[in-house]
Amino acid sequence: MSVLISPSMLSCDFANMQRDIEMINASQADWFHVDVMDGVFVPNISFGFPVIEAMKRHATKPLDVHIMIENPDDYIAEFKRCGTDILTVHFEACRHLHRTIQAIKQAGMKAGVALNPHTPVSALTDVIADLDLVLIMSVNPGFGGQKFIANAVNKVAETKQLIQAKGSSALIEVDGGVNLETGKLLVDAGADVLVAGSFVFGSSNPSETIEQLKSL
Ligand code: DX5
Ligand code: ZN
Repeated sequence: MSVLISPSMLSCDFANMQRDIEMINASQADWFHVDVMDGVFVPNISFGFPVIEAMKRHATKPLDVHIMIENPDDYIAEFKRCGTDILTVHFEACRHLHRTIQAIKQAGMKAGVALNPHTPVSALTDVIADLDLVLIMSVNPGFGGQKFIANAVNKVAETKQLIQAKGSSALIEVDGGVNLETGKLLVDAGADVLVAGSFVFGSSNPSETIEQLKSL
């Protein structure tokens, strides 16, 4: 299976969001990566429910929603209502992670857990079998356009081993500083999904850039 590509809408032109969504609809991208930031869990604020709802009206591919927020449990139902297909919470924001994962699935969404660069893969040992997705952060969350943290490549390989050891069907997604060079290292290490924001939307031909990532 070729790698899945999830362009990050954080780097799109917010004044021309419908245009950028249609570009992704027509491209070889697989999902829309949607970054929600609350200004508490991460030092930045992005956008919330009305914007996701508006995206959903135009998107013809799944919404891969990455929530960088405190108290994610309080908002699970609302993310579902807005059109979220895959909901990824942060390990570091969940006191009762097992309960949160079950709640996401019961609400009718795929469940993902994101790991900050300092969080070891082993933190997921006892929940990996319940997960649809593991999101390895290759930057500290909060901003697009940051430098890739190379240790993420090792974490992808470790996650692959854990998934196999536990018979999990979780996909491995990587987010932050992905370009053709880092993307290749990640795919070789076992990544299933690449998120790319500034590399796609900052390029002169985003659709062609998506095609290049897709062929890694
Ligand atoms: C960072 C976000 C990323 C961001 C990636 O907190 O989770 O999805 O948009 O941006 P790039 O690809 O520019 O590093
Ligand atoms: Zn993200």
